[in-house]
Amino acid sequence: MEDAPLAPVEVIERSRRGDDVDAGSVAAFVRSWLDGTASDAQMAAWCMVACLRGLSEEHTRALTDALIASGDRLELARFGHTGDRHSTGGVGDTTTLVAAPLAAALGVRVAKMSGRGLAHTGGTVDKLEAIPGFRTDLPVDRFVRQVRDTGIAVIAQTARLVPGDRRLYALRDATGTVPAAGLIAASVMSKKLAGGAEAISLDVKAGRGAFFADAAEARAGAGLMAALAGPWGRRVRWIVSAMDQPLGRSVGNALEVREAADALRGGGPPDLRELAVAVAADLAEAAGAVAEGEGAERAERALDDGSALACAERWVEAQDGDPAVWTDPGALPRAPVVVDVPAPADGWVSGLDARGLGEAARWLGAGRLHPDQSVDPVAGLELLAKVGDPLVAGEPMAMVHARDAWAAERARGMVARCVERSQEPVDPPPLLLGRGRGDA
Ligand code: URA
Ligand code: CA
Repeated sequence: MEDAPLAPVEVIERSRRGDDVDAGSVAAFVRSWLDGTASDAQMAAWCMVACLRGLSEEHTRALTDALIASGDRLELARFGHTGDRHSTGGVGDTTTLVAAPLAAALGVRVAKMSGRGLAHTGGTVDKLEAIPGFRTDLPVDRFVRQVRDTGIAVIAQTARLVPGDRRLYALRDATGTVPAAGLIAASVMSKKLAGGAEAISLDVKAGRGAFFADAAEARAGAGLMAALAGPWGRRVRWIVSAMDQPLGRSVGNALEVREAADALRGGGPPDLRELAVAVAADLAEAAGAVAEGEGAERAERALDDGSALACAERWVEAQDGDPAVWTDPGALPRAPVVVDVPAPADGWVSGLDARGLGEAARWLGAGRLHPDQSVDPVAGLELLAKVGDPLVAGEPMAMVHARDAWAAERARGMVARCVERSQEPVDPPPLLLGRGRGDA
């Protein structure tokens, strides 16, 4: 006979001391939190232990399975080549807005559940909601129909699909317990496995603006996520990408939609394009929509010939948004106050503190400081100089987009402190730090 599971407080105390806890007790603890028997305080205490001591693969799996079981699971294989992607969270990371329609243009049916901003990082749902009219709260049957008929749908976690992650995500955000590899892996993979797509592309961010401090930690996190997918028979490809400086030149919701629009029209910042191409290629190859080794070239072509843009227009229209946002900058809301941040001296940019810039954007209103705060779609930053770019004293190195002059002035100082300078030329750092797969 199996032993009875430990009580919630015993799971927390034993975990805090580093004593053995069986996976069944972890599963029972998570279930009891989901049904209201264990409190949010208990779950937050356990998450803090996970941040400080780590979570084993077995416990991560128990948490993942319990989160998946908190709602329905979708099966999408009958629709053909299906794909989903996720990033572990970065600053200015607009990749989904480009990579999702790009993968759709390559023949992948993209079915994705996204999150809102977490800590200093942005969330795809907040970015999409900067598009006038766009709905991220589609009912599950409409989501599935849209995957079938339009070939692309991106929604927020719902009350039916992984509701447990929606609650846990908000609790972690409010209690400073986001950065634990096991908690991140369970949060990401519960959404990907319940979402039902066959091919999964993971972008694991590494660096000072990410939840993984360096490439080695990110690689371990990628391996853990791929291992969680193994028994489910999904095809996982992962990328480790640098998040020491923000991705692209824009940070903030409407600004990032505009940046994605530039990329979908064949332009935009080269790092955003490079990452979107890598993600779309991984998805298209893993889903079997294009031959092995051909994804990148096909993706480059789809950005340049307008086919990714056409998919993006169909997608936004299907979710009640204004498709003009991709071609008419006037279709997006704009901040009433825009000020520049001048360079204090000549030189080169040697570092752009992604976390500090993410915090400045969050403080301006692009993210949340309290869980029930709404985000300001127009708030954010434009980075005119990235690492390796030259600076000229007195010329603008960034722009602040704000609601009012007071906020703009304060953010100006925050941004200036995030720009590190060198008297010598600096090489731009590489973006892609590793790639791999964890096929079942
Ligand atoms: N993205 C998620 O969905 N969950 C996390 O915990 C971190 C990033
Ligand atoms: Ca960006």
